[in-house]
Amino acid sequence: MNQNDLKKAAALVALEYVEEGSIVGVGTGSTVNHFIAGLEGIRDRVAGAVSSSEASSARLAALGIPVIDLNDVTDLPIYVDGADEIDGDFNMIKGGGGALTREKIVAEVATRFICICDASKQVNLLGHFPLPVEVLPMARALVERKLQQLGGHPVLREHFITDNGNLILDVHGLRIAAPTELESAINQIPGVVTNGLFARRGADLLLLATANGVERHVARHSA
Ligand code: A5P
Repeated sequence: MNQNDLKKAAALVALEYVEEGSIVGVGTGSTVNHFIAGLEGIRDRVAGAVSSSEASSARLAALGIPVIDLNDVTDLPIYVDGADEIDGDFNMIKGGGGALTREKIVAEVATRFICICDASKQVNLLGHFPLPVEVLPMARALVERKLQQLGGHPVLREHFITDNGNLILDVHGLRIAAPTELESAINQIPGVVTNGLFARRGADLLLLATANGVERHVARHSA
């Protein structure tokens, strides 16, 4: 199985967690695209989806799955999304696709965050993958300096504007031993919209695709 096959395997297992008649929270990225494709097969069993990006919304709409405004939703049993890295405590780095802010908002509403990924995303220590930070354009230089003071090497993602009209700084060189603290510290910098650390609200269930099948790991805080 190649990496794409593994992503698909994890995504298809996530379909089992979709509750009859519910609204589903849908993330962004190549792994979630397999989940969205799978939703087509159970379209009649879902009331609709709340999406975390324009890209996912377009895919959902193309399959005839109603895309519902998050402001009209109070009950979202699950949010399904991939990750760029996930550690043993189910803290994640996300935002490789630049959708981190909307992902974090939808995840916050959901009762259960189901992370779907292939085994290459599992790490002992977060930070090898550059940490994405969404920044208001006028604050770019300020935020770069502040991130350098935190020990990182921010690099502007070139030719990229988020769905919210902002920039992404990808922060290299961080070894993230205290993800919750770093998530909060970066979010305190004026001009930061949010950063790609999902530690304060990590995953509840990890569906990890390996060569031997899809492993189901429940987070300690959810067990
Ligand atoms: C999108 O902004 C990200 O948070 C994705 O969830 C993450 O980058 C994983 O992407 P893939 O599923 O494409 O690996």
